[in-house]
Amino acid sequence: MSVQEEPTRDELATGVGPWEGPWPEDPRYDPELLAHGDRRNVVDRYRYWSREAIVEDLDRRRHSFHIAIENWQHDFNIGSVVRTANAFLAAEVHIVGRRRWNRRGAMVTDRYQHVRHHVDLAAMAEWARQRELPVIGVDNLPGAVPLETFDLPRACVLLFGQEGPGLSDAAREHVDVCLSIAQFGSTRSINAGAAAAIAMHAWIRQHATP
Ligand SMILES: C[S@@+](CC[C@H](N)C(=O)[O-])C[C@H]1O[C@@H](n2cnc3c(N)ncnc32)[C@H](O)[C@@H]1O
Repeated sequence: MSVQEEPTRDELATGVGPWEGPWPEDPRYDPELLAHGDRRNVVDRYRYWSREAIVEDLDRRRHSFHIAIENWQHDFNIGSVVRTANAFLAAEVHIVGRRRWNRRGAMVTDRYQHVRHHVDLAAMAEWARQRELPVIGVDNLPGAVPLETFDLPRACVLLFGQEGPGLSDAAREHVDVCLSIAQFGSTRSINAGAAAAIAMHAWIRQHATP
């Protein structure tokens, strides 16, 4: 905090300072954060809460859609997909392919989001089959069904491809249906992070109560 009496707009935007007044008894509060302030990228209701308490609270009300994304070339979109999955409270994010992924775009939201790794599409599809979750590909492939008019299942896995190749051949083999997002301009596709945000929001519009 600056020497000014009132915090600046920037300071307000990046969190809160040390707790003022008697400390709360609630065990969800983290003593370190109470003492030093909380500058994390979390909504106000979670200010000063420990990470474990936040995850526990989110777990109680997670949605039943999962997000899966192929990761054969360290796609830079994955961080942004994780951040959006956190915002829309996806059950889990599944990284298919390489274990390592580019975390930059996640803005640390992966701390509060369950992220699971699968070595390949067959492993991810088997995981989904055991839980009776349909795997819904999202790509503008020939024969794809328009997302705009599709009734998304409440529980499902939404699978996205990578920049460049899009959904791999193996991914195409494992999807129950493939959905396309309508486009009207000249580009062949939008980026995978944007496509994932649109598809997640389509699920939210059909199933979530704000
Ligand atoms: C940049 S796209 C590449 C593939 C694309 N099939 C092409 O023809 O260029 C990367 C990923 O973003 C998603 N995506 C991009 N545009 C989309 C659209 N219009 N409809 C559905 N998914 C899309 C898909 O998951 C796709 O695998």
